[in-house]
Amino acid sequence: VKPAPSILNRIMLLHLGAFAGISTAIIAAAFLLLHATVDTFEESVLRGHAQTVSQYLSHDQTGWTLALPPDLAAAYRKGAGSFALAIVSDEGRTLFSSFPDGTHLAAPHGVSAAGRYSHQRMGQSAFYRLVLPKQGDGHTAWVLVGQNLSSPDVIVDDVLSGFVARLVWIALPILAVIFVIDILLLRRQFRPVLAASQSAARIQPNSLPARLSMTGLPREVLPLAEAFNQALERLEQALRAQREFTADAAHELRTPLAILRTAVDTTLDAQTARRFHGDIDAMSHTLDQLLELAELEGEALETSEAVDLTALATEVVTLMAPLALAQNRTIEFEGADGPPMRARASRPMLLRALRNLVENAVRHAPPGGRVVVEVAAPASLIVRDNGPGIAPSERTLVLQRFWRKNRAGQNAGLGLAIVAKIVELHGGRLDIADNPGGGAAITIRLPVT
Ligand SMILES: Nc1ncnc2c1ncn2[C@@H]1O[C@H](COP(=O)(O)OP(=O)(O)OP(=O)(O)O)[C@@H](O)[C@H]1O
Ligand SMILES: [Mg+2]
Repeated sequence: VKPAPSILNRIMLLHLGAFAGISTAIIAAAFLLLHATVDTFEESVLRGHAQTVSQYLSHDQTGWTLALPPDLAAAYRKGAGSFALAIVSDEGRTLFSSFPDGTHLAAPHGVSAAGRYSHQRMGQSAFYRLVLPKQGDGHTAWVLVGQNLSSPDVIVDDVLSGFVARLVWIALPILAVIFVIDILLLRRQFRPVLAASQSAARIQPNSLPARLSMTGLPREVLPLAEAFNQALERLEQALRAQREFTADAAHELRTPLAILRTAVDTTLDAQTARRFHGDIDAMSHTLDQLLELAELEGEALETSEAVDLTALATEVVTLMAPLALAQNRTIEFEGADGPPMRARASRPMLLRALRNLVENAVRHAPPGGRVVVEVAAPASLIVRDNGPGIAPSERTLVLQRFWRKNRAGQNAGLGLAIVAKIVELHGGRLDIADNPGGGAAITIRLPVT
């Protein structure tokens, strides 16, 4: 199955999103707050101007008159400073204007007596602007006071944008540091879970007494680990029961088989008895192999012994040579000169594996054929014969229990399964290949010590 994305990554992504959101919100809020403060301040300044100017504005029979004292008139002169003033009558006539030329000054409508403050683009420039109505003889005139933002006197907008830029540069590193700490803490929380899954990955059938360590596991994962350990316990029991059953069955069958053999010998004539012997031998061979396999199942091997591979191979050759000779086959040992080759292994188990391979080779070599047992660097045992070989398509089949190409004869089809199991328990590799001169070449590769 395709694994769901890592929880850790998802949490980190969520936190990243949250941090991005929070920092944007903080910066935006600071900006808006500052903006609102500036607006309040600006509005009160402009209102002061408008109210002062209003006092010098009056209406009589000739219409509106603006009589500014000279100092005020000088302050509102076009180009004098950042402030601009305009008076617009309700007929839309401009009585006075120091706004830049081309600025449209229509009489505003719907402005209450309190006036209206706004940001306004007027011509080329942006203005803070306040409009205040002035009543006289039932007529209305509008006092427009604006402050030009592009004037060098006005620094409030520069302060505003500068502040935001600075805030970004201060807030981002702080948030980044908090985020890194956050991730480190998160990873720490997950460490016991990772450790538990790594120890789970190391569990093998022959290391079953192993359990997941539950120390430091968070409460959310603890039930999973407990359930896993209980499952391991049941698995171990089932495996033990199965192994014991096979061993018991093999044992139980041995005695009746021995009785049968005696009965055959005593009740039948010699010629008929010999016919049964073959079958009885095959059965007891199968029982032996079965028992060996059952013993290996679920077993933790003691493989710490430094085994001399050269000595082991010569021992098997010596052991099997008479048997082979009786069948008109020869067995030879081949090995490089030099110091004896050693491997960490269980000697009796390795002997058993090699004996099975040699038995196979002797059986499959043609009459007069030759079996070679070779020790190769760094820690390999090779058995070669000049028989029919094992076809590539059969190389996984031969390892299966009870599989044999030819069902006639005394073989059980368990030998290579036993070998494979022993090699696996040693953490080694079993290779089935062609012998260069024809036949099979089977290699046990043990891990180098
Ligand atoms: N050296 C070999 N050359 C050709 N075929 C082989 C060789 N070794 C094994 N085989 C094939 O693989 C099958 C399985 O071998 P394995 O050793 O597992 O069982 P077996 O020899 O038939 O029985 P057992 O070893 O239990 O008495 C054999 O029956 C045979 O067909
Ligand atoms: Mg065999």
